[in-house]
Amino acid sequence: MLQKELSWWQKTVVYQIYPRSFRDTTGNGIGDLKGIIEKLDYLKDLGVETVWFSPFFKSPQKDHGYDVSGFQEIDPIYGSMQDFDILLESMHERSMKIVLDLVLNHTSDQHPWFIESAFSRDNPKRDWYIWADGKKPNGKKPPNNWKALPGGPAWKYDENTEQWYYFHFLPFQPDLNYRNPKVKEEMFNTIRFWLDKGVDGFRLDILHSIYEDESLRDDEFSWHLLPSNKNVASLFRKHKYDLNLPETIDFSFELREVIDEYQPERFLVGEVFGSIEEMSKYYGPQNNGLNMCFLFEFMDSKPTVKVYKRVISRIEKALPYPYIPTFVYGNHDSIRYISRLNNNPQKAKLLATMQLTLRGVPFVYYGEEIGMRNVKFDLKTSEDPIGKKYSKFPLGTIVKLLNISVSRDGCRTPMQWNSEPNAGFSSNETVEPWLPVPESYEKINVEKENKNPSSLLNCYRRLLKVRKENKILSEGLFEFMNGDADKDYLSYRKYINDDEIYIYLNFSKKELLLNCPVESPDLYFSTLSNRVALDIEAYNGKIKLTPFEGIIFK
Ligand code: NOJ
Repeated sequence: MLQKELSWWQKTVVYQIYPRSFRDTTGNGIGDLKGIIEKLDYLKDLGVETVWFSPFFKSPQKDHGYDVSGFQEIDPIYGSMQDFDILLESMHERSMKIVLDLVLNHTSDQHPWFIESAFSRDNPKRDWYIWADGKKPNGKKPPNNWKALPGGPAWKYDENTEQWYYFHFLPFQPDLNYRNPKVKEEMFNTIRFWLDKGVDGFRLDILHSIYEDESLRDDEFSWHLLPSNKNVASLFRKHKYDLNLPETIDFSFELREVIDEYQPERFLVGEVFGSIEEMSKYYGPQNNGLNMCFLFEFMDSKPTVKVYKRVISRIEKALPYPYIPTFVYGNHDSIRYISRLNNNPQKAKLLATMQLTLRGVPFVYYGEEIGMRNVKFDLKTSEDPIGKKYSKFPLGTIVKLLNISVSRDGCRTPMQWNSEPNAGFSSNETVEPWLPVPESYEKINVEKENKNPSSLLNCYRRLLKVRKENKILSEGLFEFMNGDADKDYLSYRKYINDDEIYIYLNFSKKELLLNCPVESPDLYFSTLSNRVALDIEAYNGKIKLTPFEGIIFK
């Protein structure tokens, strides 16, 4: 079978920006759209093709933008609609694509729709949200036993109308009722509003929780405490009636129809949780659903050859070509990945090489390219509403044992641009940014790493360049070369028809001598910036890899 040319979105690289933390031009300590525009050349020069922005829509900012009160408005904290238009145009001028973050599942409780809905039982917006009577005798118990994702009951009692409303995330984020066709229509119009402006795609927030069981049946017991990327069960509930319902999967097909009204092609990437096999349902039988889903498997996998081999094999099996997998190491909700590698830049370079050479679309979270570390904050001063929620509980030991971070502040600190005060994040050197700049900024920052050829930043830059220049890397099919017995390294080839390229990754502290599949290998890339060739003659026809070295050759 001859491989077809891939569409732009099937071979792109996406960079995620958390707007609050990227660059502040007004000097109030919070990042803004003008700041992003200022830094577009940095992104272009890095080799980024597509940028996804966490929400900058109108919002009370209780969940920093994931609580929207105006889906077609820009929050003044970040700028104006005019700033947005300039951002979009400036990105397109640089041949970059722009992806917005759509929170379809819920609104803020300050959204005019919810304010109206909560006003009385008989107002026209009542059934835009999910309201139910409490359990008898006096209705003061929640309608069922459903649990919210961050813990606690998923229902909040409204004294005014003496009913409960449902929320999957936090109480100030009431879930919309998609069984009401008006809600669907309104949200589809919002999608069209942004597409008409020229937006190239959407990231869909917790899409797997769009629909709930119509008759609100009680959930079943599960032994799982924490949610994982393999199973949606958590907090001792199966989440059988509130997550991944067949209606939600059908909804992803409808969303695809909306974006397919537009040319050139746009794309949807879904934040959905479950096993890889479950996620493949969202892609649709003919990839007529979401263009892609986030595959978070690498985020909670042990960084070993054995585990990675298993994960990659499962992904390749569940989503074979022409389906497009995604590779995510981190985002605004998770511990920064370099900190899961003991903050070791050598290992980060190796993993970056893997992420950017597997088959599919890599997602890079801002700051990953310079090795920004996760920061530990006291829950008492948490900005993150989840951290706030748990700040009164003595969680210290449990959190340590489970190696989790309750507050998400640690991965959302300001971008480290240079060694000046506030790391160059804010135009105001004396302002206190919304989250403190980590102490590491004097060593870890863009300006410093730019000057150092062997920095992580320059490694990402070289990787993105080699990926762009070699179609086999961004579009080729994938096949493992080494056997399951090899525990020290991963080797695989990418190929388009008869043309192939090889990737070798040494996950061990040892030097390795590995077989070379070609007579005179041509080195395209090494995590070692000063390696210029592969001298196989010196090693009996074998390739020598230094500890944690990754190479690409032909
Ligand atoms: C998932 C988002 O990634 C997270 O940041 C947000 O708090 C929740 N959804 C609620 O929208």
